[in-house]
Amino acid sequence: MTGPVFPPQFADQLGSLLAWRRDVRHFQRLPLPDGMLDHLLDIASLAPSVGNSQPWRFVRVVSEERRSAIIAHVEAEDRQAAAIYDDDARAAYDGLKLHGLREAPEHLAVFCQTDPEAGRGLGRQTMPETPVYSVIMSIHTLWLAARAMGVGMGWVSIVDPAAMNSLLDVPDDWRFIALLCLGYPAQESETPELVRRHWQDRLPADQTRFIR
Ligand SMILES: Cc1cc2nc3c(=O)[nH]c(=O)nc-3n(C[C@H](O)[C@H](O)[C@H](O)COP(=O)(O)O)c2cc1C
Repeated sequence: MTGPVFPPQFADQLGSLLAWRRDVRHFQRLPLPDGMLDHLLDIASLAPSVGNSQPWRFVRVVSEERRSAIIAHVEAEDRQAAAIYDDDARAAYDGLKLHGLREAPEHLAVFCQTDPEAGRGLGRQTMPETPVYSVIMSIHTLWLAARAMGVGMGWVSIVDPAAMNSLLDVPDDWRFIALLCLGYPAQESETPELVRRHWQDRLPADQTRFIR
């Protein structure tokens, strides 16, 4: 069977998708259409995984109590995180919006089943952390697929992982990886928000590429 042939314009469009993918923290309150999140998770599940172990576990948080508990937890962690900065850095930190949990119609928690049966151990004997890498691949796939459909996604890591396991009542051998907000973005930009807000510029290539 021959697969699809991608026309040259496809590479350009893919480039724009990558350039316009953003971490989104400002959402419209509009819900996603029925079935859209499942469709996106089907696409995220096409990601590569060590030994084809597919260790991603996606938890869609729909209960109002749990959503509120997550928001309260993240806001408490955020205040603690702020405490390491002083003076100007503290003022800059306080000016950042680091999550859109209040407005985003969807909260999605992503876990890694650390020693899944699927894959039968293939590829992870010497690097037991590879299931985690696999989950991160699925999150990036989800991020791009969402953006391609006009849906924004934001990653929230100002979280105590153990608290997420207990708040969401998931097994102890599921390692918390990410809390994600999804919804329609309130604004779009080709420039990351942390660059626009002068928190952190993109690094010059010579600081990230080496030849040996
Ligand atoms: C592992 C990971 C954790 C992140 N955690 C947060 C977070 O807690 N809050 C936040 O506002 N952005 C978070 N981000 C988003 C980054 O700040 C963002 O990717 C970066 O500033 C570049 O912006 P861009 O994604 O729009 O290109 C996280 C991203 C990653 C990959």
